[in-house]
Amino acid sequence: MKVAPNSSENQGERLIVPDLAPIRLDWPAGAMIGLPAKESAKKLADLEPLFLDRAAFHALDPELVVYRVRSWTPVQPGSEGGLFWGVTILEPGKVGKEYFMTHGHFHSNPTRAEYYCGVQGHGLLLRMDHQRSTSAEEMRSGTLHYIRGEHAHRVVNVGDEPLIFWACWGSDAGYNYGAIREHGFGARVLERDGRPVVISDE
Ligand code: F6R
Ligand code: MN
Repeated sequence: MKVAPNSSENQGERLIVPDLAPIRLDWPAGAMIGLPAKESAKKLADLEPLFLDRAAFHALDPELVVYRVRSWTPVQPGSEGGLFWGVTILEPGKVGKEYFMTHGHFHSNPTRAEYYCGVQGHGLLLRMDHQRSTSAEEMRSGTLHYIRGEHAHRVVNVGDEPLIFWACWGSDAGYNYGAIREHGFGARVLERDGRPVVISDE
């Protein structure tokens, strides 16, 4: 619907000029149509220190793409009060017995929360506080997860198809990868007898 700026219904009103074209989502496919979404990929080589089994890690192709992130950042990263939107496509696979997972991070700004929403596959969302207490909850098509700003978060694909989840987070949330790169999470997800088990890593 278009509203003419000088129609008799809105005489004198100041109209907002839309500066962002609407976009369409293909939810289950993890696709954004009609905007210049950025895409980045994380390869095994980018996740080097994170997996437990070093020998198994080095036996795999470091160029293998573990996950892709498509994101829409309509405002400048770091600007206060805006929102970003994105999708992660995490491949199935394992390094030894450990399932493929995202790097995981704290937000640089611990007051900035995030939503994750599962649309395909079977995963576990790990959350960790600053005392390293870690919890895991299932992600499946239709699950919605509110992640507190102060909690580190990582997603593990425990299924045999790509795990796809959408996310919405603050434009000034930022990323702190260092603590995770150095100390990991308080728990890992390993396959035992064909099933995922969450084991303490302390
Ligand atoms: C943004 C966010 C997600 C992740 C993505 C990849 O705050 O949490 O968009 O960035 O799932 O995970 P990382 O960033 O841990 O490599
Ligand atoms: Mn985040």
